[in-house]
Amino acid sequence: MCGIVGYIGYRPVVPILIQGLKRLEYRGYDSAGIAVLDDRQQLHVIKRAGKVNDLATTVESLPIPSTIGIGHTRWATHGVPNDTNAHPHTDQDRRLALVHNGIIENYQAIRTQLLREGYQLKTETDTEVLTVFIRSFYDKVGDLREAVRLALAEVEGTFGIAIVSPLEPDLLIAARRGSPLLIGLGNNENFVASDAAAVIQYTRNVIFLQDNEISFIQQGEYEIRTIDNQPSAPEIFKIEYDLEQIEKGGYEHFMLKEIFEQPTTFRDACRGRILLEDGNVRLGGLRPVADKLQRAQRLIFTACGTSWHAALVGEYLIEDLARIPVEVEYASEFRYRNPVLSKDDIVIAISQSGETADTLAAIREAKLRGATTLGIVNVVGSTIARETDAGVYIHAGPEIGVASTKAFTSQLAVLSLLAIYLGRMRHLSPEDGRTLLRELQAIPEKIQQILQQAELIQHVALQYKDAANFLYLGRSYNFPVALEGALKLKEISYIHAEGYPAAEMKHGPIALIDENMPVVFIAPRDELYEKILSNIEEVRARGGKIISIATEGDHKIADVSDHTIYIPRTLPYFTPVLSVIPLQLLAYYIAVERGCNVDMPRNLAKSVTVE
Ligand code: M6R
Repeated sequence: MCGIVGYIGYRPVVPILIQGLKRLEYRGYDSAGIAVLDDRQQLHVIKRAGKVNDLATTVESLPIPSTIGIGHTRWATHGVPNDTNAHPHTDQDRRLALVHNGIIENYQAIRTQLLREGYQLKTETDTEVLTVFIRSFYDKVGDLREAVRLALAEVEGTFGIAIVSPLEPDLLIAARRGSPLLIGLGNNENFVASDAAAVIQYTRNVIFLQDNEISFIQQGEYEIRTIDNQPSAPEIFKIEYDLEQIEKGGYEHFMLKEIFEQPTTFRDACRGRILLEDGNVRLGGLRPVADKLQRAQRLIFTACGTSWHAALVGEYLIEDLARIPVEVEYASEFRYRNPVLSKDDIVIAISQSGETADTLAAIREAKLRGATTLGIVNVVGSTIARETDAGVYIHAGPEIGVASTKAFTSQLAVLSLLAIYLGRMRHLSPEDGRTLLRELQAIPEKIQQILQQAELIQHVALQYKDAANFLYLGRSYNFPVALEGALKLKEISYIHAEGYPAAEMKHGPIALIDENMPVVFIAPRDELYEKILSNIEEVRARGGKIISIATEGDHKIADVSDHTIYIPRTLPYFTPVLSVIPLQLLAYYIAVERGCNVDMPRNLAKSVTVE
């Protein structure tokens, strides 16, 4: 969701805020704004609908001498994205400015109370209500820190906030409940940000605020307390990734860069975890729950979006290789549907960001019901990583493109390792383990071979850029890939697309097939190959256009397809890692041909921290 950045120190604040917002823009891009205090302690608020670049153009013409301020890039929840609803918000006589990520659920009740007390509100947003609510407490207690604390104690919902105020011009306040926020610790300067991308240019030392914590930050010091006024003992983390990992590095889009990073990121996900001689896997993060995993009678994956598709592949992998029953749950459904869980169950959250509200809530629900919880997460130190009993990082590095690509293949790498690890705890022989692991080690090179076909895929994309609909069909391990291919296309090109198990086509979707319908078949040479060929014939008979993802050397399929994109041969368990790559590229090139903003698709945000 939205991105927050704040700074207090000795450098000019405006360029720091604008640069930080650019780095956070993938979190929300409806509108952007900053609030800074100048050297005469005057508050300046500049905000507007549109992208951070629009804001940057405006502020460049208004040089403001300032070393303290906050900024925000928004993904609208309450109120349309326009200049007025953009953050920061202020109270009526601009004694404080606030940026907010999250949703204040009881804002209507607070709003009514404020209007009754004579306060004025000029926007439709819950954030303005929160700002004025804090002001109303300040009017009662005359202390800004206490006012923030008292207001937040009465607020229901989620928030990550940052505040500056002429009332205390040397103070930056940040607080969180449910929306991620960190403090970047510099030398005689400090930062606040929704994620580390906004601060690593200046510092790698960060503190992740916990739920219900408030921090009072000054140039050379900070204090963290809970909303009920207890002191907190913060832990300082070191951010491991480099600045160049969050820059485009010569690629036109982050998405393309991240697609091309996959040979490396897949290798990174496996690094240090493959024990080839033993035919086994080392997953250090799971050591504390090894006994439980050995006894597990079932596993439940919970996730959203692309991570949910990875979970579906995980189900196939673990049931095949470890023979443990697996269920896969949409986190948003699982959390509300009274699931039957016991202390013997292991619930595994998969999440790139580690902050997705539904996935986090599902894990909390599972914990309440006594289950063991694990996380397969990318962002180190994220809430899901911290709140689960144990877990495995996928080490994909920062993923900036809103459409998830490298995180998906890294999730599949970790799920493959997990399946082998669980299998070796049970019946899987060391020899079988070695065969699987050798093949996993060969995957990065095979991904590389597919990436070399980017031009061919771009050529296919050109021919279908004006299609109104797409169908993606796959069987077994490649059914989740069909779902993922369709999601990628929908997200970034706005073409309606659906993924189905190929055999389900004849139960309904076949009615959609005519000469205008492109159908993508994921049809590697596996034991269901002949079956999927029959499905291709069914589409051909109705004039549909066929794009096949096939195993190299398979000429038979080329005869019945309009286009064939080849992937190298691999074991069936690992085909999704390869077959998804052409689908990512196909979606990418179609979106580019249609002139869509690939890295910031409309209405989306990178991490969904609201319900
Ligand atoms: O950060 P998470 O993996 O928990 O995010 C889950 C989904 O929001 C995410 O995968 C979303 O579907 C992406 N936009 C897919 O490209």
